[in-house]
This record gives sequence, C-alpha cells and structure tokens, in this order.
Amino acid sequence: MAISLPDTAFVIACYRANHEEMSCDPYARLWVKPGLQKWVDDFAEKVSEYNEILHCMRNRFFYRELNSQLSNGDKLLCLNLGAGFSMYPFNLKGEMVTIEADFEDVVAHKTEAIAAFREKGELPLRNVSYINADITSPKDQNRLKEILSKYPGYRKVIMIEGVFFFLNHEQIDIVIDFCREIMSPQDVLLTVSFEERTASTEVFHRLTSYFENELHSEGIYTTLPHRFYENLEGFQQIRTDSTLALARQLSLVPEDLEEDEVLNEYCYVLERTQTLAD
Ligand SMILES: C[S@@+](CC[C@H](N)C(=O)[O-])C[C@H]1O[C@@H](n2cnc3c(N)ncnc32)[C@H](O)[C@@H]1O
Repeated sequence: MAISLPDTAFVIACYRANHEEMSCDPYARLWVKPGLQKWVDDFAEKVSEYNEILHCMRNRFFYRELNSQLSNGDKLLCLNLGAGFSMYPFNLKGEMVTIEADFEDVVAHKTEAIAAFREKGELPLRNVSYINADITSPKDQNRLKEILSKYPGYRKVIMIEGVFFFLNHEQIDIVIDFCREIMSPQDVLLTVSFEERTASTEVFHRLTSYFENELHSEGIYTTLPHRFYENLEGFQQIRTDSTLALARQLSLVPEDLEEDEVLNEYCYVLERTQTLAD
C-alpha cells in the first residue's frame, strides 16, 4: 500500500479528529474517511505511537496563537501556506480573512468538500479563499501577492505548518524571502519544524524510512536548527514552544519519555521587524 504527500494531510486530520479537545479542532472529523485509521495505526506501530498526540499539540499551539492574535482587535488576514485540511478559520472565536494555498489536488478537493459541508449546515460561514499554488514558485507567489493587494490595512499572520520538512533549504529560503517581502512590521510568521538534532535520532530514521517506503519520496527531509530562526533577517523571535513540552504540561505522555524518543516539533512565533533594507 502506498500513500501520497497530500494524503499526509488527511492522516493528520484524522489525528486531530481522534482528540478534538486536545487539538482544538472539532471540525477535523469532517475529513475522516474509511481507511484512514489504518494509516494512523500503521504509522504508530512502525514509527511512533506518540506522534498522534504531539501533532494535536501542534494544532493546539497554532489555534491558541491565532486566537490571541485575533484578540487585539486588528483587521487580520491569515495566509496559510501548505494549509492541507486544517480548519482554523472555522474553529476560531473571532473573524478574519483567510487565504489558504496548497497544491492543486488538495485545493480542488478542499474547495468542493467545504462547499458540501456548508450546504449541509456543518460549517459556519467564514471568509476563506483556497488558492492553487506551489508556494516555492515565483509565478504562483506573484499571483498570491496580487490577491493580498486586495486587502490593504490588514495585519497579516502567515502560517507555515507541517511543510518545511518536505522542502529543501533552497525552497525554504525562497518561501521565507516571499514572506519577508509581503509582510509589514508587526506582522507575524508562525512556523514549525524539527530541530536539527532530531535528524540523528532513531525515531527520525524510522520516519524517513517510512516516507521513503510509503510515499516513494526522494528523501529530502529538512530539519532546521534553532539558530536558523534566531538569525532570520527582518524577523524577531517572540515565542517558541515544542509539541513535547505542551504534551508534558497536559500530562499526555509518560513523565519519563525522553525528547529523542519522539518526533518533537518546535513551533516558532516570529514578528516582522523593520530592517535597513526596508
Ligand atoms: C503534512 S501536510 C500539513 C497540512 C497543514 N498545514 C497542517 O499542518 O495540518 C503538508 C501540506 O503541505 C502541502 N505542500 C507541500 N509542499 C508544497 C508546496 N511546494 N506548495 C504548496 N503546498 C505544499 C501539501 O500538499 C500538504 O497539504
């Protein structure tokens, strides 16, 4: 059995649906389809049994962060790059404009499915646009810029969640340069990645083998050191947390579980600053 890259977005939606309260994503259940749980179980057995709950911590972190960004009363625009089947605009307490970008197959499926969920009264009405874009392509980035130009006066929050792992360093730089260009001072960038040292753990090797075997992928799996974010020109690091630390706070993992036994992801909140070049 093989799984595709967009299928990973379905599998993690299934994680969130299995733990609605922890993931803060009660609408994730809308994406659950027959056969997904088999992938969840397979991954738990072959890679890590804790990945499901740690992923939910990631969603919880971003949900809470967006809620706090919304609470300061600004007109907010959230650009979610590589959005997959995340459901933040529907789960959040406040209103914002959301623009989600992802590959064509994900966007086509999501657009159609969201319209069907809405028609059945399963989702509240929200201002969300789904844009088919390769976020590393300059041409697609220009299209996104044009769309963003229709929203002057909005403070931006850009989210890049669960994506950097699948991009190489050059592609990550291209995406960050794009963010730097479209963001104004005080806009916020939310990202997540594996820390560099995770790459040498056994659990990470199990993860990459799993993707090579099941996704038939070429094997570029990127981790980033903390200093990548600390030294990011034009950005100031405001907060960082990890999915393991959040799970520990809520007593969701054994007390003696070591960091190198799990796929711990680090979440970063970065604020755009003024630079001399601006
Ligand atoms: C693991 S999923 C994460 C989805 C979502 N952000 C979340 O955390 O729930 C990775 C998503 O990134 C998208 N993606 C990967 N590379 C991309 C690219 N170059 N352009 C647009 N989307 C991309 C995939 O299609 C997939 O939906």
